Amino acid sequence: MPAAERGKYVYRIARLLQEKAREFAVIESMDGGKPIRESRDFDIPVAAAHFFYYAGWADKLGYAFPNRPVAPLGVAGQIIPWNFPLLMAAWKIAPALACGNTVVLKPAETTPLTALKLAELLQEAELPDGVVNIVTGAGATGAAVVNDPDINKIAFTGSTAVGKLIQRATAGTGKKLTLELGGKAPNIIFADATIDQAVEGIVNGIWFNQGHVCCAGSRLYVEESVHDEVVRKLKHRMKSLVVGDPLDKNTDIGAINSREQLGTINKYIKIGINEGSELYQSSCELPSKGFWCRPTLFTNVAQSARIAQEEIFGPVLAIQTFRTMDEVIQKANNTPYGLSAGVWTDKGSKIFNLTTKLRAGVVWANTFNKFDPTSPFGGYKESGYGREGGVHGLGAYLKLN
Ligand code: NAI
Ligand code: MG
Repeated sequence: MPAAERGKYVYRIARLLQEKAREFAVIESMDGGKPIRESRDFDIPVAAAHFFYYAGWADKLGYAFPNRPVAPLGVAGQIIPWNFPLLMAAWKIAPALACGNTVVLKPAETTPLTALKLAELLQEAELPDGVVNIVTGAGATGAAVVNDPDINKIAFTGSTAVGKLIQRATAGTGKKLTLELGGKAPNIIFADATIDQAVEGIVNGIWFNQGHVCCAGSRLYVEESVHDEVVRKLKHRMKSLVVGDPLDKNTDIGAINSREQLGTINKYIKIGINEGSELYQSSCELPSKGFWCRPTLFTNVAQSARIAQEEIFGPVLAIQTFRTMDEVIQKANNTPYGLSAGVWTDKGSKIFNLTTKLRAGVVWANTFNKFDPTSPFGGYKESGYGREGGVHGLGAYLKLN
């Protein structure tokens, strides 16, 4: 298919998604448990934005990689998680199609519905049969995709444990691989920051999507002199967060995605208590039925504590203090992960200093969880490799000679 023609299909998908945004938002919240406000204002529009963005690249790939012949890889196998089901599908399908590949996509077993709804939409867009194939199932289905000799590329987003399995399984097969894995992002607050704004950033950083976010700001480093003020304001703000029905537009924190994930989160809360950290949870009401977790924070957390080192993937924040720039850089970099980080300060010089020293694929300054299809996203260390988004995301779906 000529490149310009591909671009038209991808654009048509974007337009249809925009038209059907409400329906997709409701399905996403019912299926995965996230607040409808987030599905409506974030997941679905940002998914559509990725199709719009990559539609424009389809016939301009030569500009992305000047003087290099580019060719599609063939069949891309894509395995995605349950925290941003449609958005992850869009991140992966849009660049794959723009670059001329076909796709076998496996959504997560607890959240297959928007991917299936997207398959309907692709038919409506008259995408030729077989170009995108949605295959539902759990780990074994994912492994079948990974091991299929006719698949030329694997793009995986999920746990570091499964990412490592896939790395081993694809080694020596010639399959191109990109991995977006876990994270334990530091959110760093200097005393010169606008504290009220920073507190909102912390709230968004850890309590967005129940904390089921690979780049969640799950470790908070506060400069010692403002620690008490930040914690007081944060606790006050926590009291106003509503945990409840994902379909209610007043809900701030929806349902935990699965019984299994709730078990993991509760296990880590117990670990935090046993490690000697100090627990605080808001006392908001919880619905009687379902999987729920109140916004939770721990103070007095040691750098070596498991709740400061391991990905919890829930609404649980671990707070520490620092005195100097060197100390916070050392602490921030001291986990196996390196996906994202946040910095809050009024001093531009501090921001530039930190962006070069933090081992994180994304560093947000005076904001958090900002996404745009033009920006690359991806990790260092055990957070994976390869980049999605922007021009970088094209390289993941092309044979570059
Ligand atoms: P997971 O990594 O098992 O699941 C992610 C995807 O991989 C799903 O589609 C799943 O069916 C598939 N999968 C599972 N085993 C596979 C295999 N052997 N081969 C190929 N595909 C396979 O993650 P899970 O079990 O849902 O969550 C466990 C933890 O992983 C979470 O608590 C969280 O810490 C982390 N996680 C991180 C994510 C991220 O965005 N970085 C997303 C989901 C989970
Ligand atoms: Mg698993």
